[in-house]
Amino acid sequence: MVHAGFLGLGIYLPQKKLTNFELEKMVDTTDEWIRSRTGIVERRIAAPGEKTSELATHAGREALKDAGLDAKSIDLIIVATISPDSNFPSVACKVQKNLGATRAIAFDISAACSGFLYALTTAKQYVLSGMAQNALVIAAEKISTLIDWKDRSTCVLFGDGAGACVIGPVKKDGIIADYMLAYGDQGDLMRVDVEGSRSPFDPDKEQFGKLPFVVMQGKELFKVAVNSMAEAVEAVLAKANLSKKDVDWVVPHQANDRIISAVAKKLEIPKEKIFVNIDKYGNMSAASISVALYEAVKSGAIKKGQTVVLVAFGAGLVAGANVVKW
Ligand code: ACO
Repeated sequence: MVHAGFLGLGIYLPQKKLTNFELEKMVDTTDEWIRSRTGIVERRIAAPGEKTSELATHAGREALKDAGLDAKSIDLIIVATISPDSNFPSVACKVQKNLGATRAIAFDISAACSGFLYALTTAKQYVLSGMAQNALVIAAEKISTLIDWKDRSTCVLFGDGAGACVIGPVKKDGIIADYMLAYGDQGDLMRVDVEGSRSPFDPDKEQFGKLPFVVMQGKELFKVAVNSMAEAVEAVLAKANLSKKDVDWVVPHQANDRIISAVAKKLEIPKEKIFVNIDKYGNMSAASISVALYEAVKSGAIKKGQTVVLVAFGAGLVAGANVVKW
């Protein structure tokens, strides 16, 4: 029987660090407010000309190297992003070109902060069905382009970055369970409206959002985040026939350290088993879990044979979890 697992990992983080102290000079906020409400100390910001596809390409290249594979051996590229360079072509097609992965089919997935898990789960199905041998899954965001840098309630939360992995056939274990969900009826809690239609045939163009920036209802999202992530962890463990005691590590989406603590408490999983790196990067949307997973593995925290739960929620609203036997 074929199993799908991780063959290699990579990340790319833009050089520029934006600290809370620098934000104090940009908006009416304080380091103390940001740290105590979110756990964030600093975040990375891509250079003005640096594109999401470039962040994605760097991370993808490292994952290929880590897997010991040539770009020509990749037959599927999926990029999870909500901040693509352009509406089309897709970021995945640009990565295909940049890497010279000429045999790969390529497409993007839009599932906000759950994007990496949605992409991972999709790639797994390609590998299990035999439609792909080696899949490159990348989560990349230049979310700084979607932020109103005068809005203190959102601009302190986010950062740019990318993470990648190669998913391919493994002899046993790998990604052993998946649980994905969507609550489309709660989409208004966080969104970026596209600019009003410029078509002369659209009489209602004034109704569209004027500015393509993130708007969100933070308090409401907080509750939904805690409940949906806890639900996803319970459900995915049930699918894997595992109990919470079997879990060695949880790698959650990094939106707010208080959300992460509340999920741990609700699930009665010790916080020491939850990997947190939000202090360094803020919320990188789809890229958050991929970068956290990389750091957890490369630092030696996650060890071979351990049971790892990945869990996310994001705008859509979308949520999900995977169990990986590392
Ligand atoms: N600095 C100082 N004060 C601020 C700031 C800031 N950066 N931002 C808001 N405030 C003020 C507010 O104006 C408010 O002032 P008021 O009481 O005078 O009206 C006060 O601080 C409290 O604001 P709250 O919104 O009540 O603060 P809360 O404790 O809820 O924390 C936060 C806000 C951090 C946004 C929290 O609600 C949260 O993390 N929510 C979830 C957000 C999230 O996860 N978003 C992304 C999800 S989807 C995805 O990741 C793609």
